[in-house]
Amino acid sequence: MSNKPVVIGVAGGSGSGKTSVTRSISQRFTDKTILVIEQDYYYKDQAHLPYEERLNTNYDHPLAFDNDLLIEHVKTLLAQKPVNKPVYDYTRHTRSEEVVRVEPKDVIILEGILILEDQRLLDLMDIKVFVDTDADVRIIRRLLRDIKERGRTIDSVIDQYINVVRPMHLQFVEPTKRYADIIIPEGGQNHVAIDLMATKIQTILNR
Ligand code: CTP
Repeated sequence: MSNKPVVIGVAGGSGSGKTSVTRSISQRFTDKTILVIEQDYYYKDQAHLPYEERLNTNYDHPLAFDNDLLIEHVKTLLAQKPVNKPVYDYTRHTRSEEVVRVEPKDVIILEGILILEDQRLLDLMDIKVFVDTDADVRIIRRLLRDIKERGRTIDSVIDQYINVVRPMHLQFVEPTKRYADIIIPEGGQNHVAIDLMATKIQTILNR
């Protein structure tokens, strides 16, 4: 690897399909080319707080994220050095004790609801993407995922959505769409957009 890695930010509301967009793009390249860093893994460590208190954290507010650590890691990767990426446990609402050592790659995709919210992160990105999916589709996806994968109940997902996720989306997530170079409707099923992204990435890599 000789050139500076390409940094791509993929934002969008909860359940918009950021993960599937990122996966679809990654599948066009080899495992050695693309590194995905999830902003969720950089939620602030809450191990010192009791579980009940962690339940009350607003996970959709910019202050919930340890962007200082994320930025430090992106800069380290840009300097072609490995980092110890934290691992997040959604069931316990905090970082797990383990970390994953990740090596720098040619393309670094930063993915998260508020990844376009911090100017310092925007400054590190070459391409900014916003995955734009209707709110009804997003809440249905989130409901199914949180119950199946994150150990939540229907009532807790609905309550969190109405009281926290929706207002925070309108206040902080949606406004970052203005910073996007590309807005992708329908997430990972938008094959035209994925093809265009893959072509653009390949063009940069060929330079
Ligand atoms: N979250 C939560 N509990 C935590 C930490 C985070 O419920 N302890 C929720 C936040 O409310 C936030 C969401 O996790 O809205 C962020 O993840 P989301 O964007 O929904 O998932 P991704 O798989 O990254 O994205 P997508 O659904 O777009 O693929």
